[in-house]
This record gives sequence, C-alpha cells and structure tokens, in this order.
Amino acid sequence: MADVTKIDDNSGYDIQVLNESHLAQILYLQEIIVKNLSDPTIYFAEPTQFFHKQIAIEKSVIGLFQKKQLVGFHIASFPDLNEENLGIDIGIIQEEYLQVAQVGPLAVHPDHRKRGLFSKLLAKHLQMIKEMGYKHVCATVAPDNYPSIKGFIDNGFAIRQLKIKFNNLLRYVMYLDLENCLKQPQYSVRVLGTDTESQKFMISLGFYGYDALKNENGFDIVFGRDEMIV
Ligand SMILES: CC(C)(COP(=O)(O)OP(=O)(O)OC[C@H]1O[C@@H](n2cnc3c(N)ncnc32)[C@H](O)[C@@H]1OP(=O)(O)O)[C@@H](O)C(=O)NCCC(=O)NCCS
Repeated sequence: MADVTKIDDNSGYDIQVLNESHLAQILYLQEIIVKNLSDPTIYFAEPTQFFHKQIAIEKSVIGLFQKKQLVGFHIASFPDLNEENLGIDIGIIQEEYLQVAQVGPLAVHPDHRKRGLFSKLLAKHLQMIKEMGYKHVCATVAPDNYPSIKGFIDNGFAIRQLKIKFNNLLRYVMYLDLENCLKQPQYSVRVLGTDTESQKFMISLGFYGYDALKNENGFDIVFGRDEMIV
C-alpha cells in the first residue's frame, strides 16, 4: 500500500499518513497518553477539532501502527506569517518565515516506549517535511521532558531558546536547519537540566544546547559555542 513505511527491525511497526478514518483511534490514544502522564504539564489534550483541522493539511499527521493498532502519532504544522511562528523566537529572518515547519504534539503509547519509536517517527516526518521544501523546523519541549528532548537531539535539533510559551509555561524552543547539519561546537559546558536560570544565561551568551546526558538524579544539557567569549 502507498504511504506505508515499514520500520525495518522485524517488530511489526509501520508508519502511515493519517486521515479522517483514524480520528477515533487518535482520540483514544490521546486519552491513554494523558492518563499516564508523570507530569500533567508536559502534554495538553487537544480537542477533536484540532485533529480534524490538522488531518485536512497534507502530510500533517502521521501515525505509528503495530498490528493495525495506532500506538503513536506525530503532528507537523506550517505556521505561515502568524505570530505563533516559532521562527520568530529563535531569530529566523522574516523573509524565511514561510519556510518554517513546526512539529508537535507527538506521543507514543506507554507500552511501546523506550524502543526509539519517537525518534523514528520524527525522522520519517522530517524526511517528508524536507521533501515538501521546508528549510527550518522548530518545536517546543518542556525542560523536564527528557525522552522528548533526547529524541529531538538525536535527530539533529539544538536548544536555541528557553522562554515562557503557551499556557504560561517554560519551554525550550528547539531548532533544526534542514539544509545545514549541526557541527560539533569548539567550546562546551555541561549544565544541570534543572538549572534553567543558568541555561537562560548561557543562551543569552550565544550558546545552544546540543546534547542531553543522564546523570545520577536526572540529566544535564550540554551547551556549545563556536567562538571564545573575550
Ligand atoms: C516523548 C515520547 C513520545 C518519547 O517516546 P519514546 O518512543 O519512548 O522515545 P524514545 O524511545 O525515542 O526514547 C528517547 C529517550 O528517552 C528515554 N526514555 C523514554 N521513556 C523514558 C522514561 N519513561 N523514563 C526515562 N527515560 C525514558 C529513552 O531511553 C531514550 O533515551 P536514551 O537515548 O538516553 O536511551 C513519550 O515519552 C510520550 O509519548 N510522552 C508523553 C507525551 C509527550 O510528552 N509528548 C511530548 C510533548 S508534545
């Protein structure tokens, strides 16, 4: 069948673009995701209307299936020139706002986590977004959501901003340049994941977060910069 990508590890997972016929499954999965959140502020349940609207946009909603059961979804949107364009938060030039795609919300069923499935869903969607001609991809992530931060970093994203976003909550704005790979920076500093004030300071000095490393209590973010500050 067209539009089905098998995940090549004999696990029986595949990825498909979703349509209206999948709506009930998406809402059912979202209910399970929300019931199982360790922290209710990292994911907010979207209304049915939101999924209706997104599904109508070409290649906006993709799903992960195992034995025809939906076990994950991943949403991309294309924000045009409106003020919700995350490109504005990270200083993308105005002429390129139309080349910005945004990803999220995204989720994987609790029984299928820690198998790298989010990372595979994201990689598939990024390939599609690139083929559609977009140059920039942005996402917002809660600073305590390690699985989400790690999945983005594994796919080449960097933390470019840390600020209050929707629902008045602190969020990383993560960024991927689809035309230029992130290079290993010359200078790097490891900061506690919980120390968001120091992280904001590092970002104000031009550092960007390019790795997340587990420590005994949680994780650290590794910030990098190419030039020495004098
Ligand atoms: C975020 C989410 C999609 C990640 O899904 P996933 O398929 O389990 O992610 P991956 O398997 O690619 O794991 C990414 C990393 O997180 C780790 N991880 C995943 N679940 C974890 C957990 N519950 N506790 C600790 N680490 C976890 C993995 O081990 C991996 O880390 P590693 O590379 O250091 O080993 C999933 O946790 C989820 O649906 N969360 C609820 C919804 C949400 O937070 N969405 C994001 C905001 S919209």
